[in-house]
Amino acid sequence: MKRKFNYEILNVIKERWSPRAFSNEKISREEILPLIEAARFAPSCFNEQPWRFIIADQEETLKKMQSILAPANQLWANKAPALILILAKKTFSLNGKDNYWHMFDSGTAWGFLSLEAQKRGLITHAMGGFDMDKARKVFNIPSDLEIITIVAVGKYGNKDDLIPDLQIREHPDVRMDIDKLLLK
Ligand SMILES: Cc1cc2nc3c(=O)[nH]c(=O)nc-3n(C[C@H](O)[C@H](O)[C@H](O)COP(=O)(O)O)c2cc1C
Repeated sequence: MKRKFNYEILNVIKERWSPRAFSNEKISREEILPLIEAARFAPSCFNEQPWRFIIADQEETLKKMQSILAPANQLWANKAPALILILAKKTFSLNGKDNYWHMFDSGTAWGFLSLEAQKRGLITHAMGGFDMDKARKVFNIPSDLEIITIVAVGKYGNKDDLIPDLQIREHPDVRMDIDKLLLK
């Protein structure tokens, strides 16, 4: 089904979606860092900037990150040249108190990252399907950092390389109507 837009919005928002048909073409650190730069300028509660990232774009780290993914995600995400683990610091640096908004703010940062990628001709696909306990061990992540998601980043490849089940799902997903989102 084709996406329908009721209003004229930013092209990057209209064009972004979550493909699985990654090309295995490498991307350089210099191509990844502007995405982190976009994330860096997200707003956050008390400007805490709770987002943290582990970039896997070299063979050894990529293998480690791939080993954490759920098998259903490995099927396609193992081709991506970069996998970024997104974390969120749970407490405020100023006073050590719980930061209720850490996940909210890191989510905003991921949104900015994905739109910057879209602008630069890169594709992104976030995944919740991975072993968080294993991620904590493999990357030695301290308890003050919440583990949120792994994002695959790269260039679009060939839909025909996906297994048939995934080829069927290889399209932008539609959305609920606006009136379903607005509560009384
Ligand atoms: C936090 C989060 C977790 C997700 N987890 C997975 C996942 O494990 N596997 C997968 O194939 N897609 C995953 N997705 C992708 C969503 O299914 C996708 O964003 C949603 O269907 C909307 O489609 P669109 O991004 O193409 O607009 C995830 C997305 C987000 C934001």
